[in-house]
Amino acid sequence: MIVVTGANGNLGRQVVNFLKDRIPVSEIAVSVREPEKAADISAAGIDVRQADFRDRASVVRAFAGADKVLIISTNGASDVVTEHRNAVDAAVEAGIKHIVYTSGTKERISHIGRVHEQTEKAIIETGLNYTILRNNLYADVLVREVIGAVKTGILSIPADDGQMAAVTRVDCAAAAAAVLATDGHQNKIYDITGPESLAWSNIAEIASEIAGKEIAFIPALPDTFREGMISKGVPDFRVSFLLEIYKAYSSGAYDIPSHAVAKLTGRPATSTRDFILRTAREALAH
Ligand SMILES: NC(=O)c1ccc[n+]([C@@H]2O[C@H](COP(=O)([O-])OP(=O)(O)OC[C@H]3O[C@@H](n4cnc5c(N)ncnc54)[C@H](OP(=O)(O)O)[C@@H]3O)[C@@H](O)[C@H]2O)c1
Repeated sequence: MIVVTGANGNLGRQVVNFLKDRIPVSEIAVSVREPEKAADISAAGIDVRQADFRDRASVVRAFAGADKVLIISTNGASDVVTEHRNAVDAAVEAGIKHIVYTSGTKERISHIGRVHEQTEKAIIETGLNYTILRNNLYADVLVREVIGAVKTGILSIPADDGQMAAVTRVDCAAAAAAVLATDGHQNKIYDITGPESLAWSNIAEIASEIAGKEIAFIPALPDTFREGMISKGVPDFRVSFLLEIYKAYSSGAYDIPSHAVAKLTGRPATSTRDFILRTAREALAH
């Protein structure tokens, strides 16, 4: 049996959808913090279990009887590494044989990059079989930037014009389901990245195409970005977190286009440019 965590989140929900096309629902269980929000999953015949990574014993119970687990990295604001370590320790205690983890692109510039590094280490040190899925920047995140640029007429980002091979979240989900449902992925690390790289100036071109007028990419100075965010009520620590991430995006670490999605799923990866254009247009039309 396979347990998927974070199934009430965007990625986890899509993983479950792909997984039930590949294996019988009787072989799938999910671990969620609020089972009442997973009524549709339960109605599909999938066992819904309650667990919070901050409570290790709850995760041990949620993992009971499974061979394989997908640990989806949390978006916890507090101590994410402790949450992840609890889930990894719970996998060991529950007798899991194979941990699959949705990690992030290898970089140590941002807090989140360091969280993934520590979690990967903890997983490998268990001695269990593992598969690390290093999901690159979601193209879905870039859609939000395009929408903002169309609304304001400018793409102002505190970053250099570096290239990023963003990948759609739905492709990350399809890749994770393929890894869970098929053999041959023991002790592998995959960079789950998009098929093409785009720079911020290309993102500005997409915004321009939607707006029907030129929208320029203007790198913002970090201090100007900080002042703007703080004036909107964003806490200082959150602004620092974002500045690190933007710095990491432009470092070149995310510029690793690949055919990983196609190789793992057997179907072509979504074109990042087409996805951003279509999804931003749809969102702006509402
Ligand atoms: N590659 C990227 O660009 C990118 C962008 C954003 C996020 N991420 C990472 O990818 C992950 C999945 O993405 P997503 O789009 O599915 O994010 P999401 O919709 O925010 O889902 C996050 C999931 O983490 C769960 N979670 C949070 N704290 C938890 C805890 N203490 N114990 C158990 N579960 C907990 C949430 O549970 P509830 O449903 O109960 O809240 C939710 O299911 C994120 O959590 C984040 O680590 C990557």
